[in-house]
Amino acid sequence: MIEVKAVSKQFGTITAVRDLTFRVEEGEVYGLLGENGAGKTTTMRMMATILAPTAGDIEISGFSVRHEPLEVRRRIGILFGGEVGLYSRLTARENIAYFGSLYGLPPSRVQERIDSLSRILEMEPFIDRRVGAFSRGMKQKVAIARTLVHDPDVILLDEPTTGLDVTAATIFRRMVTRLQEEGKTILFSSHNMGEINKLCKRVALIHKGRLRFSGGLDALRKQFGTDDLDDIFMAVVEGGEH
Ligand SMILES: Nc1ncnc2c1ncn2[C@@H]1O[C@H](COP(=O)(O)OP(=O)(O)OP(=O)(O)O)[C@@H](O)[C@H]1O
Ligand SMILES: [Mg+2]
Repeated sequence: MIEVKAVSKQFGTITAVRDLTFRVEEGEVYGLLGENGAGKTTTMRMMATILAPTAGDIEISGFSVRHEPLEVRRRIGILFGGEVGLYSRLTARENIAYFGSLYGLPPSRVQERIDSLSRILEMEPFIDRRVGAFSRGMKQKVAIARTLVHDPDVILLDEPTTGLDVTAATIFRRMVTRLQEEGKTILFSSHNMGEINKLCKRVALIHKGRLRFSGGLDALRKQFGTDDLDDIFMAVVEGGEH
């Protein structure tokens, strides 16, 4: 469960996130939707205890990012889109194992997790190759496996399908569905309503750091009387509070 409670983040004079409140239930795949610069990454970085909120708090499975960051870190996996920051001279397996050891997992458990993740993500042909020569999609798979190595309850995916081809994006979505079946709580950010619609029933829509809508996509469609998600997105963004 993720509970965002009146959270704000200020960078100098810029307010990246302003008084944001929403809640993701346990076992839910929830969308965080907003344009470039809306505050999605900042929100997720606060959830992952990488950034401290300026005001408010976030609870992850009941633990406060402010007061219990270690408990939060143990339960959370975060994946950023774009450059994934792997060690190019290490193999995929070594990259993932390194993260497993940072979480304090015993080596045998780490290898079990790597074998299982490499099956699910179809990484077996290259799991023991150095990542330096990998394609964007192959690197992204390694990054996903690294995010999941400690089997976190809450998974934050920040624009994870950006730059993936149709096949890789489909494998990725299947994996999200599978994680949901395992009971994981997943927050998925995107600037693309269509992408969110493929995985999520409920969303928070943010614009310039403020919440503009939270709730079911069906309710949004009804409210605006259209199925065109891009039109709805623009109407919410331009229309002020709802
Ligand atoms: N470390 C930082 N220092 C100063 N300003 C920052 C910092 N990080 C983010 N910002 C600002 O906060 C605002 C929100 O940025 P953020 O990266 O959270 O947006 P986003 O929704 O993830 O956008 P994108 O879709 O482009 O990834 C932007 O105005 C950005 O310039
Ligand atoms: Mg971002």
